[in-house]
Amino acid sequence: MKARIKELQKKLDVLLVAHFYQRDEIVEIADLIGDSLELARKSSQSKNQNVVFCGVGFMGQSVKILAPKKRVFMPKIACCSMARMIDDTYFDKSIEKLKEYGIETIFPVTYINSNAEVKAKVAELDGVVCTSANAAKIMDYALKHNKKIFFLPDRCLGQNLASQNGLKSAVLGLDSKEKILDADIICYDGFCSVHQLFTAEDVDFYRQKYPDILVAVHPECTPEVVQKADFVGSTSQIIQYVQNLDPAQRVVVGTEFNLVNRLRKPYNGIQNTFVLSSTKPECPTMNETTLQDVLNVLEALDKGEAYNEILLKEEVAIKAKRALEKMLELS
Ligand code: 13P
Ligand code: SF4
Repeated sequence: MKARIKELQKKLDVLLVAHFYQRDEIVEIADLIGDSLELARKSSQSKNQNVVFCGVGFMGQSVKILAPKKRVFMPKIACCSMARMIDDTYFDKSIEKLKEYGIETIFPVTYINSNAEVKAKVAELDGVVCTSANAAKIMDYALKHNKKIFFLPDRCLGQNLASQNGLKSAVLGLDSKEKILDADIICYDGFCSVHQLFTAEDVDFYRQKYPDILVAVHPECTPEVVQKADFVGSTSQIIQYVQNLDPAQRVVVGTEFNLVNRLRKPYNGIQNTFVLSSTKPECPTMNETTLQDVLNVLEALDKGEAYNEILLKEEVAIKAKRALEKMLELS
């Protein structure tokens, strides 16, 4: 099957792209693997006419937005559940709610885990996109505008950025009007169900069991977990951090299972890389894509019967591109 995939890729000028959370069988054959920032940048700049994106919807959309002439296909229609927690209507309703509270102007920052319509709404208000890899830099830029920041959809990333900057945060719909009015960063109430699995008790458990252990987590984890960690970073930053450790150093990692499982082989026969949860932290939709799906989408393209192609309304894509390009320029 792998040989047939490679043959069709060559014939059809296809770049095969995979996020780090994909199954091993996909990661093994991909031309490009990375975090959401690297994948958006590198796939949109590639020479290939076609991109087959193994990941979730917003990632494929980002390539289409940045490189509208390319055709982008997803082997499976897979969605990020966090990105699905906000759409353009919820965005408008949030802005209305803030106005009701007397907050007339905000600076919106959307995490890349959001759909094209939401990115377009953010661009209409001159806001910007960020990823977990560049969030700190983007936040520095956002803060220069001297307005309250509306951060969406991930409340945890918003809260974590606020505490890193010594700022106050509040969650719209969860916190009181007084707290919202007092906050520097107002967060939308979205979250990642996978990263919510990691708890402060999990960190305490590993620290008690192995006093020398290091803890590395993704910033989609709750503030309680992030505050207890030794390292916080995007998927590629976590990989780099763990790979630079002494091979004997124990580490426990709070992010998706497939990535953690591939990180390090046992050292001297001893397992020293752990998953920060007793529940397997699998992203269900990331795990949907199989080699067979990749082959199917390529066979269909070869027969001129392409399916699962990312198509966006032009006016939405043009606006969303402004917010994404601003991010690339800043990072
Ligand atoms: P990265 O940008 O760090 O790859 O994260 C994407 C994601 O969805 C994490 O859950
Ligand atoms: Fe979305 Fe969470 Fe899956 Fe990442 S791990 S793609 S944030 S649902």
